[in-house]
Amino acid sequence: MLKKIKTLISEVSIFVPKSKAELEKFRINYLGKKGVLNSLFADFKLAPKEEKKHLGKNLNLLKSSVERVIDKYSDSFLEKTTNVSLDLSRPVSSSNLGSLHPVKIVNRQICSVFNFLGYSISFGPEVEDDWHNFSALNLPEEHPARDMQDTFFIQTNPDILLRTHTSSVQVRHMSESSPPIRILSPGRVYRNESISSRSHCLFHQVEGLYINEGVSFADLKQTLLYFIKKMFGEKTKMRLRPSYFPFTEPSAEVDIYWGLNSETDYRITKGTGWLEILGCGMVDPYVLENCNIDSKKYSGFAFGMGIERIAMLKYGVNDLRLFYENDLRFLKQFSSLII
Ligand code: PHE
Repeated sequence: MLKKIKTLISEVSIFVPKSKAELEKFRINYLGKKGVLNSLFADFKLAPKEEKKHLGKNLNLLKSSVERVIDKYSDSFLEKTTNVSLDLSRPVSSSNLGSLHPVKIVNRQICSVFNFLGYSISFGPEVEDDWHNFSALNLPEEHPARDMQDTFFIQTNPDILLRTHTSSVQVRHMSESSPPIRILSPGRVYRNESISSRSHCLFHQVEGLYINEGVSFADLKQTLLYFIKKMFGEKTKMRLRPSYFPFTEPSAEVDIYWGLNSETDYRITKGTGWLEILGCGMVDPYVLENCNIDSKKYSGFAFGMGIERIAMLKYGVNDLRLFYENDLRFLKQFSSLII
């Protein structure tokens, strides 16, 4: 019996199954109910006492070698059968994850700079009434300054329009709360303008407002300088030019120094090297009074900018219309910019 077991051990140790079926046959042959091991264990019971120790040891050795063979090859056959239906060398089909629109990216960048300065975000309706969009902002009916912003009116009601700027949100916010006020109002605005590479009937703005006791023009200048450095780089130079907005006095337009290093620079800066990026000013006391804020006690500043314009400058986009066409070849270029 011992000789038989030893022969089986050496047979098992060199056994290499060629298929899953062969391995299964091997398993049944050794471990099955009527298999080799069961019959050997039955014989073992009848063996003389003095041989039992030695026999038992070898019998267990045989059993564990059988089990080891099964363990070793069952996995490798599993892999082989899977490989048949799964070609790991095939190219992966990409899942085409979406990404943020460049206008959204720049919007978030602007907001995060001002959030750091304590500004919170305020939203308002895109369909506005005359009061919030114009009259409260020192633009009474028939005032020629209304021509600065060609307006889409809702035909059935001349008092209702698509907002031409997000200053309307500032009027709402000032009327509903009391100073100190420090808000940023991003959003879509509409103007009845012909569509070209530089203007569109729909675009996005971010406007800012700070109202408190003793706010001065110096505060406005410093705030904008901080913003511009964060947005366009620490070395960026800024200048203010006197301007006119009906709701601010004094008013200014802000330019940054772009440089004259290429033909494009000459074209976009009209040969000056300076580029206009936003409008600003000290809120007119009359506007504060319209919003129930005591203009003797409080003063403040406001500023507003077009998001597309900032995005065009930052990313060298030369046609405004690209932002609205949803051409994936354009949009995909911004997919790595997450903020
Ligand atoms: N509302 C102005 C515009 O849309 C921008 C602006 C805001 C200017 C605040 C001055 C102060 O053109």
